[in-house]
Amino acid sequence: MRTGRAGYLSQCRNCYPTSDKRAAAGDPISMPVGASSVVITERLDRRPPRASDFAAENRALETLACAMAAQPAAVLRKIVGAVIELCRADSAGISIMEPRGDTEVFCWRAVAGTLGAYVDTVMPYHASPCAMVLTSDTVLLFDRITEQQFPAVKDIEPPIFETLLAPFHRDGKPIGTVWAVSHDPDRKFDAEDARLLRSLAHFASAAHQMAAALDAAQAGRRELEWQVNERTRALHNANLALQREAAERARAEEALRQSLKMEAVDQLTGGIAHDFNNMLQSIGGSLEMLQRRVEQDRLPEAARYIETARTGVERAAALTHRLLAFSRRQMLQPRPVTLGTCIASIAEPIRRAVGPDIAVEFSLCGQTCPVLCDPDQLESALLNLAVNARDAMPGGGTLTVATADRILTSAELLGQEGAKPGAYVEISVTDSGTGMTGHVASRAFDPFFTTKPVGQGTGLGLSQIYGFARQSGGLARLESVPGQGTTVRLLLPCHVTDRKISALRQLEARTGHDTTVLVVEDEEDVRALVADALREQGHTVLEAADGQAGVRVLQSDARVDVLVTDVGLPGMDGRQLADAARVGRPNLPVLLITGYAEAALDAHLAPGMEVIHKPFALDVLAEKTRGMVEAARAAAAEDGLAAIG
Ligand SMILES: Nc1ncnc2c1ncn2[C@@H]1O[C@H](COP(=O)(O)OP(=O)(O)OP(=O)(O)O)[C@@H](O)[C@H]1O
Ligand SMILES: [Mg+2]
Repeated sequence: MRTGRAGYLSQCRNCYPTSDKRAAAGDPISMPVGASSVVITERLDRRPPRASDFAAENRALETLACAMAAQPAAVLRKIVGAVIELCRADSAGISIMEPRGDTEVFCWRAVAGTLGAYVDTVMPYHASPCAMVLTSDTVLLFDRITEQQFPAVKDIEPPIFETLLAPFHRDGKPIGTVWAVSHDPDRKFDAEDARLLRSLAHFASAAHQMAAALDAAQAGRRELEWQVNERTRALHNANLALQREAAERARAEEALRQSLKMEAVDQLTGGIAHDFNNMLQSIGGSLEMLQRRVEQDRLPEAARYIETARTGVERAAALTHRLLAFSRRQMLQPRPVTLGTCIASIAEPIRRAVGPDIAVEFSLCGQTCPVLCDPDQLESALLNLAVNARDAMPGGGTLTVATADRILTSAELLGQEGAKPGAYVEISVTDSGTGMTGHVASRAFDPFFTTKPVGQGTGLGLSQIYGFARQSGGLARLESVPGQGTTVRLLLPCHVTDRKISALRQLEARTGHDTTVLVVEDEEDVRALVADALREQGHTVLEAADGQAGVRVLQSDARVDVLVTDVGLPGMDGRQLADAARVGRPNLPVLLITGYAEAALDAHLAPGMEVIHKPFALDVLAEKTRGMVEAARAAAAEDGLAAIG
């Protein structure tokens, strides 16, 4: 930039626009010459012409096309190399207009050749010849760039002798230049160089645009990936939070369960201790009084105390029975039960339990089919329900016990695992009492749940009833409205069809109620007591003092409907006797009497065999014997029916 021609900016004598437009306007410096798409200035035209080297041009364009396909970001450097090669320039580069603060600058990108070290140089917009190229949007040739015209380039070494610049575009707008520089006064650009530069500038425009589009696409993809990662992370965190919450909830539930359990255990132990103390008090007190009366020889008064002590023993036995039932150590002894009969036998105890202020009504469906369940448990369930109803009607009211036939569909049994759709018999107990709140109703079947004061309720009643119903293949339901009353329904599956029922009844009519019982017991007193109690029930009783004597009766032609035998016999024990009896009489009902809590004995009973534990009430023994005979007859009736088809 040591020399230069003044007046460039005012007259533009040192620059040579190459557009057709200028040529058409008759501009003296833009005379159209050379290739059709490039108009070469008159100064260029005056220079010695150079033949086109199309082969070299094609090779260069082919290389550029490949580079563009493979590495669009690097293609600008390749274009600059092609400018140096095809235009025989000493240096070449690409200037791109970029915003910088409030103004704009030209940035030198992809500079190659002698000025290669100047890459990334920034030129103020108006201090660069590029501004003129953008304004004119044509190829321009500057033969000297003076310091006065473009002070920004004054320090550039080696000095620039000639510069040929072609605009390049993005989206149709000029945004920069592709330039070729000569540092040699003898090397002058000509019309062919201008054409080649313009062609390469077009290529650069396309490449630049494509690289920008690819950059945008990559940025979009990165943004998308980032969003996906963020979303995944957010989901992962949400999942962790949920897991933490679930674990927290499980811990809280466990803690609640534990505290409820402890509360229940507290309540239970308190209740049991209280009840047992009362029972011990009445038994102990009675025995003491009994002893005094005996000593005073006032025997007629002794009976009262014996009765009180006996009641205490019964109450204690009932309590242990409920505890055993709840812990499922009490074996159910199911047999076909006709509800009418069962309810008739419990009617009086129910009336007694509820007292005179409560009217008891029975609404029984005459023809309900038998159910297969433990009748003792069913009676105990009904009595429990009656007691609950009584407690809910402190000022009196009405208690209704009703039976009905029901057909339950699978939709009605949804969630009731184990219960099968079909014919059921419903026994409902309804009271006109206080009813339950939703909270109490939702927990009423829970074991140990009670709203009653310590000592008045163990909370085992309904849970025991629920367990009994489920174990019998049925279910228990509860409906309650606060202030209006409660209905608890037991639904037990029908045991036999109508046809079988009538056949059963006919068979019962034919066989009558005559029953012969063989009692085998080595303790003479006990044997006599048992025999007396059975005879009182109208049974014929045969007696044997040991297993061998029992076998002899069983092997004879004597009629035996049921065998009642002690387990702990000398020699052949009761269990062996039962097995021996079944050889000749395979369906003979056997009632085993034992003084021990023999769980193994309970667990391995054959069908038609039952156990009764000492001490037992004599009427319980008689009732059990009767039930076993009835069950055996019902089974025989069914077999008969099956044979009939
Ligand atoms: N008929 C009813 N009317 C109103 N509430 C009832 C009725 N039956 C049961 N409940 C409520 O359900 C609770 C649980 O009854 P459940 O029979 O299991 O135990 P309990 O009667 O409290 O004690 P338990 O029967 O062991 O002596 C009762 O404490 C009571 O709050
Ligand atoms: Mg109860």
